[in-house]
Amino acid sequence: MRELALSLFFILFLVKWVKSEFSPPTREQFQSCLSKTQSNSIFKTPINTKRTPDSRVYTDFSESSSPNSTFFNLNFTSLKPILIVKPKSECEIKSSILCSRKLGVQVRTMSGGHDYEGLSYLSQSPFIIIDLVNLRSININLTDETAWIQSGATLGELYYKIAKTSKIHAFAAGICPSVGVGGHISGGGFGTIMRKHGLASDNVVDARFMDINGRILDRKTMGEDLFWALRGGGAASFGVVLSWKVKLARVPEKVTCFISQHPMGSSMNKLVHRWQSIGPELDEDLFIRVIIDNSLEGNQRKVKSTFQTLFLGGIDRLIPLMNQKFPELGLRAQDCSEMSWIESIMFFNWRSGQPLEILLNRDLRFEDQYFKAKSDYVQKPVPENVFGEVTKRFLEQDTPLMILEPLGGKISQVSETESPYPHRKGNLYNIQYMVKWKVNEVEEMNKHVRWMRSLYDYMSPYVSKSPRGAYLNYRDLDLGTNKGINTSFEDARKWGERYYKGNFKRLGLVKGKIDPTNFFRNEQSIPPLF
Ligand SMILES: Cc1cc2nc3c(=O)[nH]c(=O)nc-3n(C[C@H](O)[C@H](O)[C@H](O)COP(=O)(O)OP(=O)(O)OC[C@H]3O[C@@H](n4cnc5c(N)ncnc54)[C@H](O)[C@@H]3O)c2cc1C
Ligand SMILES: *[C@@H]1O[C@H](CO)[C@@H](O)[C@H](O)[C@H]1NC(C)=O
Ligand SMILES: *[C@@H]1O[C@H](CO)[C@@H](O)[C@H](O)[C@H]1NC(C)=O
Ligand SMILES: *[C@@H]1O[C@H](CO)[C@@H](O)[C@H](O)[C@H]1NC(C)=O
Ligand SMILES: *[C@@H]1O[C@H](CO)[C@@H](O)[C@H](O)[C@H]1NC(C)=O
Repeated sequence: MRELALSLFFILFLVKWVKSEFSPPTREQFQSCLSKTQSNSIFKTPINTKRTPDSRVYTDFSESSSPNSTFFNLNFTSLKPILIVKPKSECEIKSSILCSRKLGVQVRTMSGGHDYEGLSYLSQSPFIIIDLVNLRSININLTDETAWIQSGATLGELYYKIAKTSKIHAFAAGICPSVGVGGHISGGGFGTIMRKHGLASDNVVDARFMDINGRILDRKTMGEDLFWALRGGGAASFGVVLSWKVKLARVPEKVTCFISQHPMGSSMNKLVHRWQSIGPELDEDLFIRVIIDNSLEGNQRKVKSTFQTLFLGGIDRLIPLMNQKFPELGLRAQDCSEMSWIESIMFFNWRSGQPLEILLNRDLRFEDQYFKAKSDYVQKPVPENVFGEVTKRFLEQDTPLMILEPLGGKISQVSETESPYPHRKGNLYNIQYMVKWKVNEVEEMNKHVRWMRSLYDYMSPYVSKSPRGAYLNYRDLDLGTNKGINTSFEDARKWGERYYKGNFKRLGLVKGKIDPTNFFRNEQSIPPLF
């Protein structure tokens, strides 16, 4: 008993000591470590990297152009980063990692900065941000139809470069051009050609990766387990992805797009209801997603559904296909436009006719400043009346949004365990829920988030269950968060199995091998399992 009391005293003492002794390094201390790490090799570099003088750029949080308050979750009381490092070489990423370990601070890696909960630039413990904005070269090889893309590149930069290089190539990834490839590809990646070509992560053929020791690994040297984990498991748990090698997709020179809009009411509910079983079963060349949103007419809120479509072929083939499979939509040739694949990206961003250079704008984001999002997978068509109830609820908000993205096709042909992304066969479509607001106040946020959670509760009988699936790239901290460095694997299963189902355990084992001390961690990182 006495021994126990003594050791308890000792532990308390230790905790107190550790608490009072650890004060995070200042920016100057961190910079000093960086310069030392660069010049004399305290940490031996196994690879020969040339240093260029003054290639590092340090920025104050306030000066940074990347993390804006757009994605700031107000309830997440983040510290300011000690430093934002914008490396211009892989070697500088290594110094940043090694200094963070030495000085006991965390690392947040940021590529496009589009994380829905801001995990790439917010933290509750002392941290630095490694902003990969300066590492974004793209090398396309048309001979083997692949591209090496550095993590800091955006989808828009990638799409632009592909289109400038070839009229018949594309890449299967997301719609919004300012999304970064670093986060996006390691979390899955839904886009308009996924029914034919799969998720972005399904098209990764190699990767360059930096571990906790600053070692650079590729597919061969990292081994298949880690390579598996990076393709859908969220790379932030394991280290820093430097670049991806991806397989490009072949697309026809002419594709066809159309939108078909329907105001709220019973015929809209019927159409959306019909779409649920048609959309995921269609020809793989055909992608029809449904956007349900609000608009203001006078001072009356109106809900509408928009069927936004890409067809990998011409109008002449599309019309008979639609007449056969989805005659209820009443599609006519004059509603359709033929265009190149890159123009279809502009079309899906509501920017048809604008210069393609818009795709290079990294700040292209929502106009409304704040939002909360959630996701679901649907396995059986939702009853028609549910869309009536959704309409009613939508009328309570200025800017609610639901995007229904059809799955099936190539996505379902990959087995549940082939990559960490498990929501394959048997899923009809994904729902993304979102609500936006403009006023930066806790009260305001709580009001909208309460509304969102209530809609999510309402939907629970109609969506996937045990576990209720969620899409990692639509990150949602409501699903559960880690409680510090020693979060048990059991605790993390609460959210982990919703993103990864049975793959969560294998992810834990990979984490245990590559980062056993749990250096790379955040509110929803995978705890190590041994
Ligand atoms: C406006 C908008 C539109 C979107 N559209 C789509 C869409 O069409 N389809 C879709 O599937 N998703 C979409 N998303 C979601 C998007 O895929 C995810 O938010 C994705 O994680 C963003 O990647 P990022 O690099 O921009 O984000 P970041 O915030 O930079 O990173 C996201 C996560 O990945 C980690 N990370 C980033 N880079 C690296 C790296 N190099 N190595 C290791 N870890 C890293 C970060 O630390 C963080 O945990 C959209 C998001 C937004 C905001
Ligand atoms: C960030 O937000 C501020 C205030 O809303 C705005 O003035 C600034 O231009 C924004 N920066 C970027 C990079 O979007
Ligand atoms: C392109 O790929 C081919 C086939 O794999 C290869 O032989 C060639 O060296 C590559 N070109 C470049 C520039 O890497
Ligand atoms: C913010 O925190 C408060 C108190 O913990 C909680 O009641 C509220 O639901 C939280 N809001 C959000 C948006 O998470
Ligand atoms: C976490 O667990 C390790 C190993 O069990 C222990 O040494 C360490 O003190 C724990 N840290 C905290 C913050 O609880």
